[in-house]
Amino acid sequence: MEANRRVRWGILATGGIAERFTTDLLTLDDAEVVAVASRTEASAKTFADRFGIPRAYGEWDRLFADEDVDVVYVATPHHAHREAAGRALEAGRAVLCEKALTLNAREAEELVTLSRDRGLFLMEAMWMYCNPLIRRIAELVRDGAIGEVRTVQADFGLAGPFAADHRLRDPATGGGALLDLGVYPVSFAQLILGEPDSVQAHALISPEGVDLNTGMLLGWSDSGASALLSCSLVADTPLTASVTGSLGRIDVPRGFFFPERFTLHRNGREPEEFESRNDPHSFRHEAAEVMRCLRAGETESPLVPLDGSLAVMRTLDAVRDRIGVRYPQEAAAQA
Ligand SMILES: NC(=O)c1ccc[n+]([C@@H]2O[C@H](COP(=O)([O-])OP(=O)(O)OC[C@H]3O[C@@H](n4cnc5c(N)ncnc54)[C@H](OP(=O)(O)O)[C@@H]3O)[C@@H](O)[C@H]2O)c1
Repeated sequence: MEANRRVRWGILATGGIAERFTTDLLTLDDAEVVAVASRTEASAKTFADRFGIPRAYGEWDRLFADEDVDVVYVATPHHAHREAAGRALEAGRAVLCEKALTLNAREAEELVTLSRDRGLFLMEAMWMYCNPLIRRIAELVRDGAIGEVRTVQADFGLAGPFAADHRLRDPATGGGALLDLGVYPVSFAQLILGEPDSVQAHALISPEGVDLNTGMLLGWSDSGASALLSCSLVADTPLTASVTGSLGRIDVPRGFFFPERFTLHRNGREPEEFESRNDPHSFRHEAAEVMRCLRAGETESPLVPLDGSLAVMRTLDAVRDRIGVRYPQEAAAQA
């Protein structure tokens, strides 16, 4: 792609996050939204009218076949990520796919293999990894500012309530706290420490069979480090994170996945404050990273590497194994 051409986006699905992401995209001078697809013509048309998008499709494949689309943003519920992103890649489109990348690690492997085999860009929409302060925290830890990491703590819990027909309550759409919210603390811990080799978990399970309140203990046997993480759909947790090492600690206040500040405590020194005013258009960092990669001809983002997304999916699978949550598609696949 020529370095100075505007990147042409196609939006897949017309729900909550698709609206927020499209709103942010439209504030970027080097992006344009050229098409939207939905399962229904009417939703596609309503969305297109609202955002001034030239083409509205009531079938996904028409979006994937649209030669004017450089990159498809997949904003369906989790269970449809594999199919939507897979079909887009098969049609030759680059893909930004909402988090968690898929329902499970097997599906994530399939997508990553497809993108690598075809030499096409794929990225999980883990916008937290594109946030400048989160990147700064990872850098400080890598540079030894707090010594050897001993523990990570992070939580993401929202009390809802979520109506009975909400996708978060439905196992068939990959509902529950883990894939929507738990993916953040797990991704945060793995940004700092990599993939754990021990996973323990405990959860409250809903009558429908999704996790409502989940505690996770991850372990790294080489260093003896651990991470204590939680996610919830029935409790408003602090939404904070901290990383403690042998020489100090980093505390990230409420909203750790999109921080405006954090504090570095080095043992025996005055605390150091790091601040960066957040962009009110919170998804611009990840959109900019996708467009940078496309212009540079990179098929994987170094900020949100596919191997990292795969490792997170393996941890989420291990958590579900411990708490006994299986999505109906997985039971059907094994039968
Ligand atoms: N990055 C973030 O901060 C963030 C925030 C919230 C959610 N998310 C992620 O974004 C994804 C969608 O979440 P959301 O909150 O936007 O959900 P949502 O409001 O329920 O919207 C999802 C959209 O997907 C389509 N859809 C619904 N059921 C479907 C099905 N059975 N098969 C295929 N498509 C279906 C619908 O669009 P059509 O009717 O147009 O087909 C629906 O509007 C999830 O993976 C979630 O984790 C990310």
